[in-house]
Order: sequence, then C-alpha cells, then structure tokens
Amino acid sequence: MCGIIGYVGNNYAPEILTNSLKKLEYRGYDSTGVALLDTNAKLTIQKSSGTVNNLKKNLEKYDVDSKIGIGHTRWATHGEPNNINAHPHTDCTKKISIVHNGIIENHQEIRNSLEKLGHKFLSQTDSECISHLIENYLDNNDDIEKAIIKTANKIKGANVVLVISNKHPNKIFCFRIGSAGGLIIAHGNDEMLVSSDIPAIIPYASNITYLSSNEIAIISSKKVEYKNIDGISISKKTTTLELNEESISKGEFKHFMLKEIHDQPQSMTDAIGSRVSFIDNKIKFEKFPFTDDEIKQFSKIILIGMGTSLHACMVAKSWFESITKIPTEVDNSSEFRYRDLILNENHLIISISQSGETADTIAAMEKFRPLNPKQITLSNSPKAQTSQIADYTIDIRAGIEIGVASTKTFMCSLTTLYLLSLFMAEKRNSLTKAKMNAKLSELAKLPGIISNMLDNQKQYKIIANKYYNYSNFLYLGRGLNYPLAMEGALKLKEISYIHAEGYPAGEMKHGPIALIDQNMPVVILIPKDKMLDKMLINLNEVKARKGTIIAIATENENYINNLAKDIIFIPKTSDDLTPIIMSIPMQFISYYIALNKECNIDMPRNLAKSVTVE
Ligand code: M6R
Repeated sequence: MCGIIGYVGNNYAPEILTNSLKKLEYRGYDSTGVALLDTNAKLTIQKSSGTVNNLKKNLEKYDVDSKIGIGHTRWATHGEPNNINAHPHTDCTKKISIVHNGIIENHQEIRNSLEKLGHKFLSQTDSECISHLIENYLDNNDDIEKAIIKTANKIKGANVVLVISNKHPNKIFCFRIGSAGGLIIAHGNDEMLVSSDIPAIIPYASNITYLSSNEIAIISSKKVEYKNIDGISISKKTTTLELNEESISKGEFKHFMLKEIHDQPQSMTDAIGSRVSFIDNKIKFEKFPFTDDEIKQFSKIILIGMGTSLHACMVAKSWFESITKIPTEVDNSSEFRYRDLILNENHLIISISQSGETADTIAAMEKFRPLNPKQITLSNSPKAQTSQIADYTIDIRAGIEIGVASTKTFMCSLTTLYLLSLFMAEKRNSLTKAKMNAKLSELAKLPGIISNMLDNQKQYKIIANKYYNYSNFLYLGRGLNYPLAMEGALKLKEISYIHAEGYPAGEMKHGPIALIDQNMPVVILIPKDKMLDKMLINLNEVKARKGTIIAIATENENYINNLAKDIIFIPKTSDDLTPIIMSIPMQFISYYIALNKECNIDMPRNLAKSVTVE
C-alpha cells in the first residue's frame, strides 16, 4: 500500500514526480505530496489531500526549479487522510524529508522518547518518527548515511523509506526492511528513479534493480551505491524491463477495469502459452523443481490467498481433489498464518498473490517454511516477495493490472491452477489419457469463448439500469460456482459500494433466506452442470418468497425460461471450466452497476491494489 517515487537527474523533477505518482495511485489515493530540493538546496514540501491532480494544481502555483525530489501517494494507516498526515514528512529543522511505505511497529515508543528529547511532531503518523530519528542520530559530522543506518536498525516492522536532505542535494537515500511492498531503482541516461512499482518508471528507464530486504541504496544521477543494513557495500544485478507505455494505458476504454476485462482472451492465451503442447497434449512448467516421485508423494495441498486470490484457491481446491486426487484444503492467509499446523515435506502449499506483496500471504508462507513443506506461488509479478520465499514461482502472465478490482489476474490465476492440477495429475497417473485430452481440448476453446462473451454487453447494461439503486444483493452458487458467488459479491461491494453477500446455495435455508423479499436481488449462478437440480430447488425457494431473481444460466437450454425474468446467458463449457467463464458476468454486472452509480471504478474508496500491511 502507498506508492513512493524518487527522481534525481537533469530534468524538471516536479513534473516527473507527479506524472509517476499518477501511475502509482492504484496503491493508495487518500492524499499525496512531494519534497523537492531546488538548485540552492532549499527544501520545499507540497501536499494535498485527495488525488495527484490536486497536487499538480498546487504545484503549478510554485515554480520550484528542482531536479531532485521524492513523492508519495498514501493509503492511511496511522492518522486520518489530510494534508498534515500526508507524506513527505520532515524533521524539526525542516532539512530532512522522508516518504514511507509500511508500518513502524514501535513508533509510539520511538515518538515518546524523541518527544522527551524535545522533538516536535506535527502529524499523527508513524512515519514521522523516521525523519526525527535521522535528525536525532546525526552526529557532529552530519553523517547522514550513518544516521539512516541507525534508523533502519531501530524501527521495527516491514518498511520502505526514501530520504532527501539539503546537506546532500544530489542524492536520494533509500532503505528497505521486510516486505512492505517492493522498491525498484531505474537507471536512465544521467537520471535515476526509484519507485514502489514498475508503471511509474516505464517511460524513463528500462534497466532496473530490485532492492531487497535489509538493503540500502544511495542514488545520484549517474550511479547507485548498494549497502547492506550494516553499511557494508554489496553488488546487485540489473535486469532489463520488457514493458512499454501501451501496457499501462487505458487505450480506447473508459476505465482500466473495462480494458482489463477485455484483455482476458489474450491474457488467458498467454497464461496457457507454451506451457501446453496441444499436439501431444502435454503440459510443461519450465524448471519445475519437484521430481515426479516427490509429486507422487504429496499427501496434502493447502491453497492460500486473500480476497479474489482466495476465491481462485477455492475453485482450485475442487480441481486438485477431483483431477489430481490429492486431499486439498483452502485457507485465508490471514487465518492460516496463525494456525498451529503439523506440516512436512510431503505437503504442498500453493499461495496465490497477483501482486506478490500481500503481507498476510507473505507471512503465512514464511511462518511454515521451517517445517519444510514444498511451496509454489502464483504471481503476476514474479520478482516480488512471495517468489523469494517459495520453491517455485508460476507467472500467471496476465500483464499489468491497474484497476484495483482484480479481473484478468483472477482469470489467469484460475487458468494456471487448472494447468497445474492437470500437470500434477499426469505425473501421478490420476487421469486417463483420454480424459486429459478432452480437458485440454475444452481449455483450448476458452479464449475464443470469452472473446465472444465480451461482445454481448447489452444484457449487463439492462440489468445495471434496473438494479443499480438496490442496497443489498445476495449471490448464490454451488460446487465450483460457489466461490464465483463470493467473487461476484466481492466485485459488487468493492466498486459500487453496494452491500452484497456470496453464499453456497445450500446454506441459504440456514439463515440468509430470512433476508429475501422483493427488495433483495438474488443473483443465482445456475449453469447446466451436475448441480443444476439442486440449484433449481434453491431458485424456486427464492421465487416462492417473492425474491427478485437474476439468473446466470447456460444458453440454448430451456430449463430456466419461465423461472426468472432477468436471465444472463453464458456459453456451455465443461463443468470444470464453467467458473472461469462465470467470472465474466460477475465482472460486468458490478462494472455497469458502478458505472450507473458514477463510482470511482478504478480506484474505489478505502482500497489499494497491494495490501502490504497486515
Ligand atoms: O495481490 P493479491 O492477489 O495477493 O491480492 C489479494 C487481494 O487483496 C485482492 O485479490 C483483492 O481482493 C482484489 N482487489 C479484489 O478485486
């Protein structure tokens, strides 16, 4: 959460920083700010509550001639979103300025002791202790590097920090401890940027270095020095970035979310890509680390994730049980990390985190590492923190997703998990060749099916026009589509702020049925699959109580015709793959309802794309 950026070079820093902050806004957007050092080394700080556009307008009033600065877009943890709590923060002398991402666990203790020494805090944030600590540790020689090292060693928790000081007008100092989101240094021509994520640096540089935990970087326009947290110099590898501006633009679409929904046929094709040879129906995962024997020995799989990634885990549980024939459980990472579990080397943890930055998922993976379960992680950012912990990372290949609501990353996670279940099934001989062939040939049709589904948006607009004023929704599904009911409800509440619940349909009679009346639209996921008869019973029960039904049913079938007034049709595919195509109506219903309600679809209130704190 929070986006941080730094620039040092020969160009106009205010413009570069604000342009870059705009591209980091998906990480937090309640307030924003920059600290600039001008050509006389004078420090200027500008902050605004709200979005970067407000900041830009403010900055236009001051023409600061600056070629170095740091910036921040905030997702509040300590202190409400306002100008004072917005970053950057400064010390008592107003000579040092910092931006911070993470949570300082011992901030209260630090603040108390610094206040006793006479330091005056202006904000309610934990972050402000950093600038005062640095000030406090500065000795008579003004050795800022030493002071930063002491500060990095003093604060507890996962934190990423950038620092500038008027005594060092050509340098940005950074450090990272733990996993509070990443930090990427981009090397340009006589200019350097440092950022929480790639979108902010794409236009400026294509050679990048990732700062790891317990590392420090001292950046000037021509060089970067790397040190460990004890101040010892280290060397680091630089890699080349293979992304362009187009991959982070909305193109012809009104919102990133809409663009990303439309990206799905291509993203899914990429996720399948060279992993499947459709000539001999074989699946291959490059450099898969476990031997066939080890795969045969797996006695349990545990899938973990949060939010939409958790819903992908829930779908995959059924695949791993029915296709790979391995007992499988699912847990929310934030619960899993506090369990007392007995795990061994025959257990496989599969974590899913599109960002690779989710604090709870990282902590859950770390916690059980000493017990030696095997670990695979699925990520859309395969250099992120989750990959440092797992034995193996599978890139879900969705392409950059900017909209806070996950769409294509969900679909690509599902596709990749399905392939993984088939891959392991082949190694374990749990599927006949004929069944494998049939499953792969169904999978091959999916990108085309999804592409056709995108052409038919009128039905969603009709539903949205009719229902956008309702205050509560219930989503019901069974089996593989129960997690999709959860996902549909999550998408709706996330971007349209309508209260929605997803339930397994069988649970309805055990409580939620009490809510049903004509004011409660019930979205019933009722494709023609092996659960159809049971779902028909649930549908009739809702109807008998005058519930307002929106059915999602299989096209060219007549089982639903007179049972619901509002029906959205989806194409027929195998039962296994239905949840993948079911995600399209879940996305479009919420998108068009949020559009009617004029919500901020790509940056819904209170949310951030990467949840890097617990
Ligand atoms: O990056 P992750 O996949 O670990 O993120 C997990 C959740 O925060 C995420 O899926 C969230 O629920 C989505 N924004 C939902 O659309």
